[in-house]
Amino acid sequence: MPLLEDSVGVEDLVLLEPLGQESLLKNLQIRFEKKEIYTYIGNVVISVNPYQQLPIYGPEFIAKYRDYTFYELKPHIYALANVAYQSLKDQERDQCILITGESGAGKTEASKLVMSYVAAVCGKGEQVNSVKEQLLQSNPVLEAFGNAKTIRNNNSSRFGKYMDIEFDFKGCPLGGVITNYLLEKSRVVKQLKRERNFHIFYQLLAGADAQLLKALKLERETSLYAYLNWEASRVDGIDDASNFRAVQSAMTVIGFSDEEIRQVLEVTAVVLKLGNVELSDEFQADRILASGIHDGQGVQEIGELVGLSAEELESALRSRTVETTKEKVVTALTIIQAQYARDALAKNIYSRLFNWIVYRINESIKVGAGEKKKVMGVLDIYGFEILQDNSFEQFVINYCNEKLQQVFIEMTLKEEQEEYKREGIPWTKVEYFDNSIICNLIEHNQRGILAMLDEECLRPGVVSDSTFLAKLNQLFSQHEHYESKVTQNAQHQYDHTMGLSCFRICHYAGKVTYNVTSFIDKNNDLLYRDLSQAMWKAQHPLLQSLFPEGDPKQVSLKRPPTAGAQFKNSVAILMKNLYSKNPNYIRCIKPNEHQQHGQFSSELVANQALYLGLLENVRVRRAGYAYRQGYGPFLERYRMLGRSTWPHWKEGAREGVEKIIGELSVASEELAFGKTKIFIRNPKTLFYLEEQRRLRLQQLATLIQKTYRGWRCRTSYQLMRKSQILISSWFRGNMQKKRYRKIRASALLIQAFVRGWKARKNYRKYFRSGAARTLADFIYRSITQKFLLGLKNSLPSITILDNKWPPAPYKCFNTANQELRRLCHQWKCKKFRDQLSPEQVQVLKEKLCASELFKGKKASYPQSVPVQFRGDYIGLQGNPKLQKLKGGEKGPVLMAETVKKINRGNGKTSSRILLLTKEHVILTDAKKSRAKSVIGLDSVAEVSVTSLSDGLFSLHLTEMSSMGSKGDFLLISDHVVELLTKMYRAVLDATQRELPVTVTEKFSVKFKENIVAVKVIQGPGGGGNSQLSCKKKGSHGLEVTVK
Ligand SMILES: Nc1ncnc2c1ncn2[C@@H]1O[C@H](COP(=O)(O)OP(=O)(O)O)[C@@H](O)[C@H]1O
Ligand SMILES: [Mg+2]
Repeated sequence: MPLLEDSVGVEDLVLLEPLGQESLLKNLQIRFEKKEIYTYIGNVVISVNPYQQLPIYGPEFIAKYRDYTFYELKPHIYALANVAYQSLKDQERDQCILITGESGAGKTEASKLVMSYVAAVCGKGEQVNSVKEQLLQSNPVLEAFGNAKTIRNNNSSRFGKYMDIEFDFKGCPLGGVITNYLLEKSRVVKQLKRERNFHIFYQLLAGADAQLLKALKLERETSLYAYLNWEASRVDGIDDASNFRAVQSAMTVIGFSDEEIRQVLEVTAVVLKLGNVELSDEFQADRILASGIHDGQGVQEIGELVGLSAEELESALRSRTVETTKEKVVTALTIIQAQYARDALAKNIYSRLFNWIVYRINESIKVGAGEKKKVMGVLDIYGFEILQDNSFEQFVINYCNEKLQQVFIEMTLKEEQEEYKREGIPWTKVEYFDNSIICNLIEHNQRGILAMLDEECLRPGVVSDSTFLAKLNQLFSQHEHYESKVTQNAQHQYDHTMGLSCFRICHYAGKVTYNVTSFIDKNNDLLYRDLSQAMWKAQHPLLQSLFPEGDPKQVSLKRPPTAGAQFKNSVAILMKNLYSKNPNYIRCIKPNEHQQHGQFSSELVANQALYLGLLENVRVRRAGYAYRQGYGPFLERYRMLGRSTWPHWKEGAREGVEKIIGELSVASEELAFGKTKIFIRNPKTLFYLEEQRRLRLQQLATLIQKTYRGWRCRTSYQLMRKSQILISSWFRGNMQKKRYRKIRASALLIQAFVRGWKARKNYRKYFRSGAARTLADFIYRSITQKFLLGLKNSLPSITILDNKWPPAPYKCFNTANQELRRLCHQWKCKKFRDQLSPEQVQVLKEKLCASELFKGKKASYPQSVPVQFRGDYIGLQGNPKLQKLKGGEKGPVLMAETVKKINRGNGKTSSRILLLTKEHVILTDAKKSRAKSVIGLDSVAEVSVTSLSDGLFSLHLTEMSSMGSKGDFLLISDHVVELLTKMYRAVLDATQRELPVTVTEKFSVKFKENIVAVKVIQGPGGGGNSQLSCKKKGSHGLEVTVK
């Protein structure tokens, strides 16, 4: 059950009930699964690496944690950073933030969170921002040179780092000091499988442009370098090339000059190239096996890079000068020794370069001596390490952690004790494990392991790792934290986990077995003087400055301090530094070995919890009183539990708290009233208070809900009622207004009528009625007159074809104007007709008849219109022979012309003369002077013509006539329109019958008994010349083509 509302598990392990390793783990796991990675033990933050980006960082969160006190929000590193920063600012207490944990547990990330928090909340301004920028930018540079990919962490810091950030009295950063510890320099020459060398080498090769690479005499390919584990040269999620640019710009921001950056890169290149110097066997003149340089090119290039002669470097790599006060002996190195010397040189150059970079950064960020400052230290240091095979490095790392644990215990207890003292509460002694016995075992000046090691290194005579171990075994045979195969206090003879060359220390965090092999070597950390002297001779200012002991003038035969002694020294300085400050702890835990999010390996975490001493931490915290809180916040939280403190309490907070406690009747031994805080001995009491609070809150919530609901209903009812009254008053008012307006309008209307009526009555006599109409009539008449007079003056000519007519001046005269125009035209026509002679009348009548018959029906009609109907086309008048053909027929010949007759049998044509008289149609052979056929007009039943421009026509005869039995005639005339018009009129005159004239392309012709179907076709010529050709189509068909 979560203790406090909204919390997953308990947010503070001090309140864990029951307290035990298992419940502690369970609590961490529950919280981790709900992505609550931070948990408190009092004011210590436990951070479980989530291995995923959580949305709990950034400006909004910083702003939130800035405004609240430690316990008011969920546990967070920001809360811790805030407490540290605020008490630094307000109470002038120097702070330190100690971040510990295994590799990959999130220490470096945590330190960055602290720094970014402080950077965000501290003051602003140009000066301050540039200091901040320099402090923040030191991270990428140190990470490039000091971090590497390991199996556990892709960006593992391979050095310890302590950074003091210094502030002025306002809390603005002034600068800082960085101290680095024990760079893992063995990595320069050798890495485990799937691990990498330091990032900078890969960054340089991937990110440098071609020009820079050439200047450094490097190739881009990582596989070309013996010191690089090219198997793992790429790491997912790390972009070496862009990181290289970031590092360069960070160096510029910090204040490295271009020249310095170049020199740093040159020295880095020298290290890489040293790895490629191959050594081989060679014999000296006296047949002693010695080493030689296999390939001189590399050495040559290194020499060129740093201004050193190749021979000098070569001889330094191949031989060793042993100097005593009296003489100097030069011995050649064997290949193994030479390789060792080469690697030692590379490691030394690199680690000294790293130290120099730290020194150079410090030069940039250091604060002037005179200024008064407050300090916040951030320690990000390797955690306790237990590997398969533990060597000198693990030994010193674990020693450092042992010391930190000591600080932790002493400081927490001291803090606790001090708080009790401040609050005036009697201190009860707390039982805890004091690890100073282990620290002593290692660091005691005369009888510590480190002292023994130094002694062994300095001792003349045969010295080896095993003599060192023997010494330890002898010295610590009775020590309860020391074990080995031969000590009596433990029966380890049969322990297979411990080799002959091993010893074991029972650290506070667990037992670690160390292998003494190469302890002596690593502690000596010797570089042959020949090499340091060679380096000093280089023309390269940076490289030269890294080897001051190479200066022949400074040669002293005194040995430099050993690695162990140096480390012990720096740890001592660090401890002194930490003791002078108020500590804040972040303890980082790694949830699994695979860098996977969401995976919680209980076993792994249990192990870390054990050696981080979490349980112990909780116990210490709970030894006296588990829980404490200021009177103010306590009263605020539990006020509702007291009858007299709720809802208003006017007196002091302490009295309020006492009142509540009194009313709840909590046992008095459970509590202590300090000066500013109340102390609660048992978490159970707090749970009881919390439970009471929860119940009370429920009651209060119900009360609030009840009150609120009542209030809401009441106000809503009142609002509705008010609204209703308002609406109805508006409505009524509006209605009355409308009614009033209507009455008023009506009254006005009536008044107006009455007044108008009265006025009209009064004034009628003064007006002449009907004047308008008279005026209008007059105007109308005068414009009519004007129109007609105008028309008279512009009448068109009398010519019948002149169609002009003036338009009407006004629209109203349009109809009259048209009518006048029509009358005028008719009048002109009448005039025209009256002057025509009777002959002309006849001609026009014929033309009219022709028009009625053919207009719009026959194609040759339009040509016939302007042509005069001559009637005689064969000169009948002057030809008595032809006159005779008429026979006894009275009356004139209406039409005489030569036609073609189509032979009914074969379709051929033959000429005939056709005469039309008032009663007959006479057809004669042109050569003979006797009528061949005489057809009475009464026996012509019908005439058929085509619509085309040809002259074909057929005379259909009535069946009763004598000619009828012979059959119909099919003729072609050149004046078919005239002929048929005249025939029509003759038939009309003779028989009062209208001769049907059919215009058609298909008709049938009777020939004797046969009926022949005639079909007329328009030929391709378009009928222009109206020539015809006839073709028989079977016995009953005739096809006529108009060409
Ligand atoms: N708070 C965090 N949120 C997200 N990822 C984290 C967090 N802390 C650590 N990590 C992840 O774990 C990796 C290792 O963290 P790091 O701080 O380098 O470990 P350490 O310094 O303890 O060796 C980081 O590279 C990062 O991926
Ligand atoms: Mg780290």
